Amino acid sequence: MTQEILIIGSGAIGLSLAVELKLRGASVTVKSRNFREAAVHAAAGMIAPQAEGIPSGPMLELCLRSRQMYPEWTRKLAEISGLAIEYWPCGILAPVVDGTTPDFAREPAREPVKSRVGIARSGLPAYWMDGDAVREYQPGLGTEVTGGWWFPEDGQVDNQMLARSLWVAAQTLGVNLQEGSAVESIERQDGQVVGVRTRDGIDRAYRYVLATGAWFEELLPVPVSPKKGQMLSVRVPQGEKSPLQRVLFGPGIYIVPRRNGQIIIGATSEDVGFTPGNTPSGMKGLLDRAIGMYPALENYPIEEFWWGFRPATPDELPILGASDWSNLTLATGHYRNGILLAPISAKLLADSILEGKTDPLLKQFSVRRFDRRVAQSNTIATPTNHYRSMSSNLTSPTASSIAFATPSALATAPENLLEIAGRQFQSRLMTGSGKYTDFDRMRQSIAASGCQIVTVAVRRVQTNAPGHEGLAEALDWSKQWMLPNTAGCKTAEEAIRVARLGREMAKLLGQEDNNFVKLEVIPDPHYLLPDPIGTLEAAGQLVKEGFAVLPYINADPMLARRLEDVGCATVMPLGSPIGSGQGIQTAANIRIIIESAKVPVVVDAGIGTPSEAAQAMEMGADAVLINSAIALAQNPPVMAKAMGMAVEAGRLAYLAGRIPVKERASASSPQTGTIASTVS
Ligand code: GLY
Repeated sequence: MTQEILIIGSGAIGLSLAVELKLRGASVTVKSRNFREAAVHAAAGMIAPQAEGIPSGPMLELCLRSRQMYPEWTRKLAEISGLAIEYWPCGILAPVVDGTTPDFAREPAREPVKSRVGIARSGLPAYWMDGDAVREYQPGLGTEVTGGWWFPEDGQVDNQMLARSLWVAAQTLGVNLQEGSAVESIERQDGQVVGVRTRDGIDRAYRYVLATGAWFEELLPVPVSPKKGQMLSVRVPQGEKSPLQRVLFGPGIYIVPRRNGQIIIGATSEDVGFTPGNTPSGMKGLLDRAIGMYPALENYPIEEFWWGFRPATPDELPILGASDWSNLTLATGHYRNGILLAPISAKLLADSILEGKTDPLLKQFSVRRFDRRVAQSNTIATPTNHYRSMSSNLTSPTASSIAFATPSALATAPENLLEIAGRQFQSRLMTGSGKYTDFDRMRQSIAASGCQIVTVAVRRVQTNAPGHEGLAEALDWSKQWMLPNTAGCKTAEEAIRVARLGREMAKLLGQEDNNFVKLEVIPDPHYLLPDPIGTLEAAGQLVKEGFAVLPYINADPMLARRLEDVGCATVMPLGSPIGSGQGIQTAANIRIIIESAKVPVVVDAGIGTPSEAAQAMEMGADAVLINSAIALAQNPPVMAKAMGMAVEAGRLAYLAGRIPVKERASASSPQTGTIASTVS
């Protein structure tokens, strides 16, 4: 029986692999969120391992092998799909503009330029031309051009034709193409993927491939981020012959002439997340550089402009091959070279998936290289790592197995434990993991506080925000219960997505059954006040998805009730704005919330001192969450200890019941029943 392979992602990589697997007899399904958004549509289609300046090594080898496959690969795709693909090995000329003398041996050229040329020593055909030679070879170059490299074996493919042809070839071969089927999460159990969740339910297969390009990190905590590229095209005026018969690839600019008269100009490379749209400055930069390099363009009519998102890893190399789940293969991070690398990626991954053959080259692109990077970082004392630790032997902690500072017997009597979503905790202090100067101090402080729940900003950890690289691995999750939070999310949609990632992160760090999320939807950058409507919306959805939701809210009793009604596990009203240290400014409302709520009330944000922590607990809060007041104290571990003691003191005071407030003094020594009165 053929066993189904499910590919998530319909970009150049996902579809090329689908076609390759199908040609080798596999049964293949492709889930495509939106084919039109794939980076393949936004590209210029350069086949440019040399012009891109990829240094010698495994990446160059991968690129060259793929370039070599191009003629036959595109011929075969065109034959299957019945759609032409214009692959044009037109060569790429790379003008330089700064007069730098290139590193090459001035050997006489063998082709095609007659004078003042040299050939590079790399062993690959690459010819240097000085200013005069380059102008002779390519008339019309701007005055700023001082020389150039000629790479005769680089070229281009019409990426739009390629995309269409890949889709139709997959369809023709009988790949089950599911457009509009967005995978929301990957379900995993015991080291295997057991299904993918979409809006319509769970789909199962025998093997899975994740190839979602720039969107990869929405489904798996692997460092892949979008690099936006803006582009435009002009057209050679009607009746004129195109003056360009090769790609020009200068500093920060490329000009790609198609045979049909279209000329593509690209591309910016921007770290702006998924911010859509072309910008005036992006377009201006491209046009200035393009006109500088090839002035005739300035009068050509503009045809179109567009943008796309390349998937970039921290080392700008792709991630290809096995993952920590035995039946999940990864394929992303092709960054500027996705189209070039499609044929070789498909071949090597198909060899590995169907035949268990791992080309030695594939090993160089394993996701595990990111383990080492983090494990070697000297800020991390725990010898776990960024990705592999996910595998791991950590056992799931249960609250009862979390033994730490020993609170007094009364506070820890079974009836007095803090219970959230069916899980019990002895400590009523939750702490954060942000803002510490180093991981050692963070670990010491968390230990000194005696807390059992530590919140972690999922997004900051995943994007390796300053101070967050390796943070999740720096803590011992057999001692702490992780509370992933959605800090940094401005909308309900973002928060939902990040919550799902948080659940994955907790799982990967050994807490298989952790479904907690501290929900933060915060559009306001100044006071960091939460959006009540977005929070309620996201909470409802996350509860439906089985999360234990702990929403961070303003101290609004009605909102607290609504959140409880939709099934939140706690409510977390703020005492005052996050990090402000202003203490409990919202006491009156927090009291109302405590009175009415049936779920635990956690006072979150604003606490600056132990007395304020104790105050919240004396009021009857079930717990408090404190980060800045500890992390930014002059001596964080000592402050952490003080906060832990204050929370316990406040709790005991609440349980003990305070004396009523009276208008008048009442003497400490009773007036009746005194020795004097009995004697008299
Ligand atoms: N391959 C060119 C680019 O990504 O802009």
